[in-house]
Amino acid sequence: MQVAPSILSADFGKLSEEVKAICDGGCDLVHVDVMDGHFVPNLTIGPVVVNAVAKAATKPLDIHLMVENNTFFVDLFAPLKPKYITFHIEEEKHPHRLIQKIKSLGIKAGVVLNPHTPPSSIKYLIEDLDMVLLMSVNPGFGGQKFIPSVVQKAKELKELINKSNPKCLIEVDGGVNDKNINSLKVAGVDVVVAGSYVYGSEDYQKAIESLS
Ligand code: DX5
Ligand code: ZN
Repeated sequence: MQVAPSILSADFGKLSEEVKAICDGGCDLVHVDVMDGHFVPNLTIGPVVVNAVAKAATKPLDIHLMVENNTFFVDLFAPLKPKYITFHIEEEKHPHRLIQKIKSLGIKAGVVLNPHTPPSSIKYLIEDLDMVLLMSVNPGFGGQKFIPSVVQKAKELKELINKSNPKCLIEVDGGVNDKNINSLKVAGVDVVVAGSYVYGSEDYQKAIESLS
């Protein structure tokens, strides 16, 4: 299992130290939550701060867009060379086009599904995707409770992925901790995001190890 701590729960007063600490603690990706105050009722960080995160990070960035104008934000963050950019399928009229655009910039592309969005909605996109991110909370805030139906959803998605693009990864984001990690492993999830669980622990390395 790959682990991508979300810096949303980090202490922003010492952000570069917090980013270095998760990288030294053995994380696989640094998860960056970009919120625009429109798609979700919260506002986070833009390219100036994410650039500082990229400089401090020794692991690749995984940028999760929770925004209305996806194309604008892809252009804004592409110069920072993240490994992944994921965008919400609920907010994009032309997902196929945007996936091709992200890939043409040398970045791996993923789509994000809110808790109510079924895997069948992306059946004809899977062959073009590097990753599908399943939300296990409603997007907008760290520290929320895990929605258990995501486990069944991950199993359904895995079946679709096995049929059309076995290389496509499944990522789960929201409320992940040492209690629900096993159910996600069994369901075939490849990457977990964990914000409050990692940054709320005394020892980041131990928290990351307990999920991997
Ligand atoms: C929620 C974000 C998550 C969140 C995870 O909108 O996408 O990445 O920060 O935080 P926890 O692990 O605390 O739910
Ligand atoms: Zn996220």
